[in-house]
Amino acid sequence: MSKTKNKISKVVLAYSGGLDTSVIIRWLIENYGCEVVAFIADMGQGENLNPIRQKALKTGATKAIVKDLRQEFVQDFVIPAIKANLLYEGKYPMATSLGRPLIAKWLVEVAKSEKADAIAHGCTGKGNDQVRFELTAFALAPEMKVIVPIRESELKTRDVAMEYARKYKIPVPVTKKKPYSIDRNLYGISIECGVLEDPWVEPPEDAFLITRPISKTPKNPLEITIGFKEGVPVRLNGKRMSTLRIIQELTALGGKYGIGRIDLVENRLVGIKSREVYEAPAATILLTAHKELEAITLDRETMHFKEMIVPRYAELVYYGQWYTPLREAFAAFVDSTQKFVTGDVRLKLHKGQCIPVGRRSPYSLYQKSLATYEVGDMFDHSAAAGFISLFGLPIKVQAMARKTQKSK
Ligand code: ARG
Repeated sequence: MSKTKNKISKVVLAYSGGLDTSVIIRWLIENYGCEVVAFIADMGQGENLNPIRQKALKTGATKAIVKDLRQEFVQDFVIPAIKANLLYEGKYPMATSLGRPLIAKWLVEVAKSEKADAIAHGCTGKGNDQVRFELTAFALAPEMKVIVPIRESELKTRDVAMEYARKYKIPVPVTKKKPYSIDRNLYGISIECGVLEDPWVEPPEDAFLITRPISKTPKNPLEITIGFKEGVPVRLNGKRMSTLRIIQELTALGGKYGIGRIDLVENRLVGIKSREVYEAPAATILLTAHKELEAITLDRETMHFKEMIVPRYAELVYYGQWYTPLREAFAAFVDSTQKFVTGDVRLKLHKGQCIPVGRRSPYSLYQKSLATYEVGDMFDHSAAAGFISLFGLPIKVQAMARKTQKSK
C-alpha cells in the first residue's frame, strides 16, 4: 500500500498494550508512513502502565505518554453518574460508556499539543466505543481527522492480527489468553466475547476478575456506612475520604462479598443485541446507597420526575453523546436536585447482595409524627375525607355519567 495515504505525518493513538493496538502502531506506520504517538490513559484499570509504555515504544511509537485520569474521571464522569443513578437498560452502570469520552478528550488534547494531524483508536466497527470516541472528537475538535485502522483494514479477527504481529515481530501473548474482550476502569469491568456470546450459557467463573462467586463469599454479613454530601460519596464507615478512595475500597469489599455481577443482553447503538457481563461492585453499592438517601431527602415530585429522565440520560451517555447540550442540561438539573442529598446510609453486604438497613439525614423529609400509627400522631385524619372526595371527583363524575347514558 502507498505510504502517503492522505498525507498524515503524525497520529496520536489510544493505546492499551493489547494485541490490537500494538498491531495498529505498526499498521499506521506501514500504511500512512506517519509517526505514531501512543497515548495510555490511567483510568484505574489496575495494570502497571510502565511496561505498556515500553511496549508501545518497542513496537514503533516515537513517543508514549501515560496520563493519570483517575481523579478527573471520578470528578467529571462518575460523580455525575452516581448523582443521577445512571443505569443503561436498568442494569448497566456504564463504566465503559463513561470512560470513553474522557479518553477521547485527552486524545484530542495530546494531538493538539503534539501537533498531530489525526487521532486513532482500536475499536471495531461493530461496537459503541467507536461512536463515543468519534462523537467526542467531533464535539471538541471538529477539524481533527480520526483514523480507525480496524475498520479500514483486514485486521478484523484475532487470527489476522496475530499473523500480522508475527510478521512484524510484535510480542504476542504466549499463553492462550482468555477468550474475552475486557474493558476495565475504576468504576467497573465490561466482559464480552467467547462463550458469553451464547446468551443461554452461564458466564464461567474465569470470566470474572474482581468478584467472588457466592459460594466463596464470607458466611456472615458485613455492615458498612456510606456518607454523602450533596449527592457525592464522602465518607466510608465514618472516615472522610476521597470518592476515588471510597470507590477503591468498595470495589475490594463488594468483590469479596460477590456484589455487582451483572449479566445483560443489551441493545447496542449500532442496532444489534449483545450479551455482556459486568463487574461493578462499587457502582452497585454506591447507587443502592444513593437512592436510599434520596428516598428521605427528595420531595415526591422531584424524585418521580428525576426517575423519569434517568433512562433517557443513560441512553444519551451510552450513545456517546456526552459532549452535548442535552447531557449538560440533564447534569445541571440533577445537580440542582442534590442540594439536600446529604446524610448516611447503612448497608449489609452478604452473599452477592447489598441490603440497605438504615438511612438518616439532617435534611430528612421523613416525619415520624406524620407517619406513625402509634401515639403522637400529628396527621390530620379528618382532612383525608375532603381530600379524597375532590381527588376522586372526576372518577365519580365519569361513573355517574356512564350510568345515566346507559339507562337512556
Ligand atoms: N457494552 C459496553 C458498552 O457499550 C462495554 C463495551 C466494551 N466492552 C468490552 N468488553 N470491551 O458500554
